[in-house]
Amino acid sequence: MDEKLRMRAVRYTQYGGPEVLEHVDLPVPEHAEDEVLVRVHYSTVNRTDCGFLRARPAIVRLFSGLTKPKNTVLGCEFAGEVVSSGRLANEFKPGDRVCGFKDDDFGFGGHAQYTAMNVNGLITKIPDHLTYAQAAPVLEGSHYALFGIRATGIEAGQHVLVNGGTGAIGSAAIQIIHSLGATITAVCGPDHLETVKHLGASHVIDYSREDFTKLDQQFDVVYDAVGKSTFGRCKPILKSGGKYLSTELGPYAQNPFLALYTNFFGAKKVLFPIPKNTREDADYLGNLLQTDQYKPLIDRTFSLDNIAAAFHYVETGEKIGNVLIEMP
Ligand SMILES: NC(=O)c1ccc[n+]([C@@H]2O[C@H](COP(=O)([O-])OP(=O)(O)OC[C@H]3O[C@@H](n4cnc5c(N)ncnc54)[C@H](OP(=O)(O)O)[C@@H]3O)[C@@H](O)[C@H]2O)c1
Repeated sequence: MDEKLRMRAVRYTQYGGPEVLEHVDLPVPEHAEDEVLVRVHYSTVNRTDCGFLRARPAIVRLFSGLTKPKNTVLGCEFAGEVVSSGRLANEFKPGDRVCGFKDDDFGFGGHAQYTAMNVNGLITKIPDHLTYAQAAPVLEGSHYALFGIRATGIEAGQHVLVNGGTGAIGSAAIQIIHSLGATITAVCGPDHLETVKHLGASHVIDYSREDFTKLDQQFDVVYDAVGKSTFGRCKPILKSGGKYLSTELGPYAQNPFLALYTNFFGAKKVLFPIPKNTREDADYLGNLLQTDQYKPLIDRTFSLDNIAAAFHYVETGEKIGNVLIEMP
């Protein structure tokens, strides 16, 4: 790679709203021995990017920098073409089509024309039947979903309720749980009942008409993939030995404490697993993609020039699945 090669990128050097984003020219990153350099075709803006942009919740600063961001180019997901690979990364060859996810562990960097990615992290080859656009949002929502699903030990024959079946995490969770053979009841808004059914839910509840916490039925697992409920409200619909999982900390950051408490007391448990980025998970999800058991739900596409509008849109909390960024 020519050392003087430069690329277009979007950077933030202070925490704040989408107005702090700057369009800049930066040197193309160098890659280490265990990394590949990828020419990015599509990236995404997701809730992880939004959380790091504003440093919310505040605990994010422990990872991203106390007073200002240490990784200044966001974009944790990308799909593109390998242009070169390090000595310890040569299972990926120039020309390979790959998608990846990297948050703080591996430094973000998808909102740029090139990014370096460690091959021990979440990276996988894109199956031939998927385009770069379809593959860009493959790993964010799904790896959070997979981590939660593994923690709860969901298996065939169980009945799981997924709240927020339209989110990046919820839509991936439904497909992964379906692939495991469990039965799913999903909750979403009135406009997306059919979409969520197609993902693999057997029953769909419209939250504008029915409160799922008042159902006359009990579940092995309640997975709140949009963090809108509480363990207290969901307890009556959990079986004895049932597990509750939420993507949010909950009121007064109660969920991690409840996870600790219910580990020792009570028949119904709260789980609060901390996700890791592993190559095994990328391969697992890559296999689901390859076998058509998982396909990310896509809402809309913004150009890199218009990325601030994408952040504004994702921050509304109204996106359906994933929001793409097309690279120039
Ligand atoms: N801080 C971080 O780094 C981080 C990273 C990733 C995710 N998260 C958290 O994980 C959660 C999910 O994120 P996401 O990207 O998958 O999705 P999202 O953008 O938060 O939500 C997507 C969809 O959830 C549905 N929804 C809204 N209110 C709902 C309600 N009361 N009940 C059920 N569904 C509702 C809406 O679709 P309908 O039209 O169907 O209602 C919305 O389009 C969020 O709470 C997010 O903050 C945090």
